[in-house]
Amino acid sequence: MMTKGTKIPDQMAALRQHKAGGPLQLEQVRVPRPGPGEVLVRMEASPVNPSDLALLAGGYLERSYPFTPGLEGSGTVVEAGSGLLPRLRLGKRVACSPGHGSDGTWAGFMLTTATNVAPIPAHVSMEQGSMMLVNPMTAMAFLQMAREGKHRAVINNAAASSLGKMLIRLTLNRDIPLINIVRNETQVETLKKLGAVHVLNSQSPSFIEELKSLARTLNATLVLDAVTGNQSALLLDAAPPGSTLVAYARLSGEPIKADPGALIGEGKKMVGFQLGYWLQDKSLLFKLRFISKVKKALDRELASTVNRSYPLERAEEAIAYYREHMSDGKIVLQIGSL
Ligand SMILES: NC(=O)c1ccc[n+]([C@@H]2O[C@H](COP(=O)([O-])OP(=O)(O)OC[C@H]3O[C@@H](n4cnc5c(N)ncnc54)[C@H](OP(=O)(O)O)[C@@H]3O)[C@@H](O)[C@H]2O)c1
Repeated sequence: MMTKGTKIPDQMAALRQHKAGGPLQLEQVRVPRPGPGEVLVRMEASPVNPSDLALLAGGYLERSYPFTPGLEGSGTVVEAGSGLLPRLRLGKRVACSPGHGSDGTWAGFMLTTATNVAPIPAHVSMEQGSMMLVNPMTAMAFLQMAREGKHRAVINNAAASSLGKMLIRLTLNRDIPLINIVRNETQVETLKKLGAVHVLNSQSPSFIEELKSLARTLNATLVLDAVTGNQSALLLDAAPPGSTLVAYARLSGEPIKADPGALIGEGKKMVGFQLGYWLQDKSLLFKLRFISKVKKALDRELASTVNRSYPLERAEEAIAYYREHMSDGKIVLQIGSL
């Protein structure tokens, strides 16, 4: 094992959840040490994402309790297990995510595999770097899917999200028509100020007719659905024949409800998207180019707006605030001061 810079303590503060849906408690736990292929990251910052809320509620990813939540973040690699990649990452500022079922980023240190960390470019802050892996890569993946599928236009819902705003900037710069669906008029105004051309409010009485007409006029055959539930049925019905609906989250908490007739009679498809699985199939060369493109756009098209920062010990308050202000920008937990 090699260390750099920091004397690694035996104990650290970590947020722990003891049962699904249970409270978060700041506890002292043992600092894990890296084995072969692993690195120890001294954590700096971590956002609260919808996937964290799903994880805290239980039933989203398999895990044993108690555990430390937090699915992405940033920090410095302070210790490396054996292997070339861990050694290359030692001392680097990195964006990081935990391995499957492992403790996460809401702690003083996180142990993960060296393949789960990516160096943060010098021009990007630790705060922005903490949000580098999930949304920016997903937004870029959606753009790639639009290209590969030769889709002329795209529909996205929950479009006032950080990811939705990235997608707006990416598609505007490439002249790809994007139909944004939000759920109130404030969000319509916010997205129009960003330059979005087509913004529909799902609560408007004319929503379904407007969506159908616009989707068919623009030939929007790539339908990105983060809401699911009843909205999937509306989207599938409105989209032109041959469309693909990509379910990428379950914000409504509801299962997908859809008329099989749309799939059978109109050649429409429904598929799921998870960034990790999508990347798994890609070649090493594709991945390297893809990550390099994402990094270059991190301070522009793929930047995340931070609404508020909280220290780790106020995570419960941060999460409660986030639940009520999701469209206003990211909530970031600052861990470096622990
Ligand atoms: N599959 C993947 O690999 C992958 C990767 C990245 C992101 N995602 C998903 O992408 C989505 C956006 O992520 P983000 O971090 O950008 O989110 P975010 O910035 O935290 O914003 C969440 C958005 O979802 C909206 N929302 C919440 N519940 C909703 C509901 N029931 N119906 C309609 N809209 C709802 C919120 O609107 P209000 O302000 O009105 O509540 C807000 O605009 C999330 O669902 C996330 O899980 C998936």
